[in-house]
Amino acid sequence: MSDSEKKGAAPADRVVRVELGARSYEIRIGEGLIARAGEILSSVLPGRRALVVTDRNVGPHFGHALAGALQKAGFDGTAIELPPGEGAKSLETAKALYDLCFTAKLDRGSCLVALGGGVIGDLTGFVAATYMRGIDFVQVPTTLLAMVDASVGGKTAVDHPKAKNAIGAFHQPRAVLVDTATLAKLPERDLRSGLAEVIKYGIIDDAEFFAWLEANVAKLLARDTVALAHAIEVSCAIKARIVGEDERERDGGPRALLNLGHTFAHAIETCMNYAGYTHGEAVAIGMALAGQLSVKRGLLGEADAKRIRALIEKAGLPVALKAGDPPPEDLHAATFRDKKARGGKLRFVLADKIGHAAVHGDVPEDEALAVWKSGRS
Ligand SMILES: NC(=O)c1ccc[n+]([C@@H]2O[C@H](COP(=O)([O-])OP(=O)(O)OC[C@H]3O[C@@H](n4cnc5c(N)ncnc54)[C@H](O)[C@@H]3O)[C@@H](O)[C@H]2O)c1
Ligand SMILES: [Zn+2]
Repeated sequence: MSDSEKKGAAPADRVVRVELGARSYEIRIGEGLIARAGEILSSVLPGRRALVVTDRNVGPHFGHALAGALQKAGFDGTAIELPPGEGAKSLETAKALYDLCFTAKLDRGSCLVALGGGVIGDLTGFVAATYMRGIDFVQVPTTLLAMVDASVGGKTAVDHPKAKNAIGAFHQPRAVLVDTATLAKLPERDLRSGLAEVIKYGIIDDAEFFAWLEANVAKLLARDTVALAHAIEVSCAIKARIVGEDERERDGGPRALLNLGHTFAHAIETCMNYAGYTHGEAVAIGMALAGQLSVKRGLLGEADAKRIRALIEKAGLPVALKAGDPPPEDLHAATFRDKKARGGKLRFVLADKIGHAAVHGDVPEDEALAVWKSGRS
């Protein structure tokens, strides 16, 4: 038996490290990791008391297996299921989770394990960041979006009625376990939405990966686990590097590049009350609009903007708003409203070629409005 097998790491696992000094951790990607979670986490976690937090869509498929794997490795692990959906990212649910932590007698050496999408990850991370001034937590993401984005980087939050993600903390997980087998159960629309963030990494950082995506997007949509593992590994490696350089999104730091397409997307989401488009779909439209704005500003060639739009469309994602969506003037007002209210400057992440982007704070309002006006199917 090799050393890696003794530690419970099958040779096929891919490992990406997030380098943050004492807060460094590994993202482990592989098929069937949930069954091996106990062995893997034994060497990472000091304590042996764990509470698995999941939702009612994910729990019935994987909750029992994860709690069982933890128990087999000597953890005192139980799983609790919350209602699914963004509504669970609230202070009320956080309070209910604190109560459960006390009932389960979790102390400062205990651990929370988030099994689910970004909602469960953000909420569980927030409770872990605040219960007894911070306890360990582990991310076991089960949506593509959570695997490549939400579970990595330590941003945790709940929503406030006045704003999404407004109550939060930076709190890094001790480990991220990405079991690609969980994607077999993910609804098609969530899979495609996650692909928007995957494409984002290619545009902002890696032209070779972008070209790989152009050639392999059909395999990803067909849930080819080898292709998915590769896309997740490259995406996580890019996010891990950026987070390692800029853990807390300092002004002018590279973490802002992860917001490509998001200035437009947030305006669409707020204008439409988070209905109509998923986050990934709004980001897809936002990236196409950012491409257009980049061309308008003389930063990006039209051919590259076309490739961006084509890849987004190949992934089954929208590149433009539909007739019947809010009018350009409303979207434009929403783009600027938030920032102006807080006295901040509006920033767009714009690509200057595929594989490279920068933050621009000097976009004239009329140019942004022109893009909103043209971005319709
Ligand atoms: N912390 C961060 O850095 C960060 C980054 C991006 C997004 N987010 C947050 O993530 C959230 C969105 O995450 P999401 O898109 O994963 O949504 P989600 O957590 O709501 O999951 C989407 C749906 O899929 C279900 N589901 C999850 N995994 C499944 C599986 N394997 N099989 C079947 N069903 C499954 C869930 O129950 C839910 O109904 C938002 O709240 C957003 O603010 C956080
Ligand atoms: Zn996003």
